[in-house]
Amino acid sequence: MSLKSEKRLPMKNFLLGVLTTLAVLAAGTFAYLRLGLAEVRADLPGSRVESYLMSTAVHASVRRHAPEIPTPVQPTDENLIAGGKIYLNECAGCHGSPGSGKDYGDVLYPPIPQLPKVGTEYSEAQIFWVAKHGIRRAGMFANGKWDSDQHLWTVAAYIKRMNALPEAVKEALEPKKAADAKDSSKQ
Ligand code: HEC
Repeated sequence: MSLKSEKRLPMKNFLLGVLTTLAVLAAGTFAYLRLGLAEVRADLPGSRVESYLMSTAVHASVRRHAPEIPTPVQPTDENLIAGGKIYLNECAGCHGSPGSGKDYGDVLYPPIPQLPKVGTEYSEAQIFWVAKHGIRRAGMFANGKWDSDQHLWTVAAYIKRMNALPEAVKEALEPKKAADAKDSSKQ
C-alpha cells in the first residue's frame, strides 16, 4: 500500500462512520413513527423538543410565506368594531373572548393561543395570511375557503389592536351590546 492511500484510509473510515450513523438515525426515526410510538393525543402536551421544533417551524414558515402587503382596511373605530364582531362570531370560540375567564387553550395540541391574554407577535399581514390559509395539523382553519379577503383583513385589524382598543370600540363590543348587534343582524 502506498503512503498516499494509507493517509486516505482514516478519512474513508470517518465518512463511512458518518454515513452509518445517519442511516441508523433515519431507520430509527422511521421505525419510531411506523410502530406508532409517537404520541398523537391532543390532551397530552408534547415534549419540549417537539413543542420547540414545531412552533419554531410554524413561525418561521409564516414569516417566510406571508407577504408583507399593506392592509386595505384602515383602523377606524367602525372597522375595528366590525373586526371585533367577526372575531367574537368566528374566532373567540377557540381563541377566547376578551374579559372572559374561559380558556380553551389546552383542548388542542398545539395549544390554541388565547389571543386576548397573550396577543400575537405576528404583523397584520401575517395575521391575515394565517386566518386565510390556516395552519396544517393544528386545528386552525383556512378561513379563505369561505371568507373574503376584506373580511379577513378586517378581523386582522382588530386582532392586532385587541388589547389597545379605543374606548368607543371597547364599549360597542361589550358582551351585551355585541349580542344585541348579533341578534339584530340575524333579522
Ligand atoms: C377550531 C379552533 C380555531 C378557530 C375557530 C380559529 N383558530 Fe386560529 N388558531 C387555532 C390554533 C390551534 C392555532 C395555533 C396553531 C399553531 O401554533 O400551530 C391558531 C393560531 C392562530 C393565529 C396565530 C397566532 C400566533 O401568534 O401564533 C392567528 C393569527 C389565528 N389563529 C387567527 C384566527 C382567526 C382570525 C380566526 C377566526 C376567523 C381563528 N383563528 C379561528 C385554532 C383556531
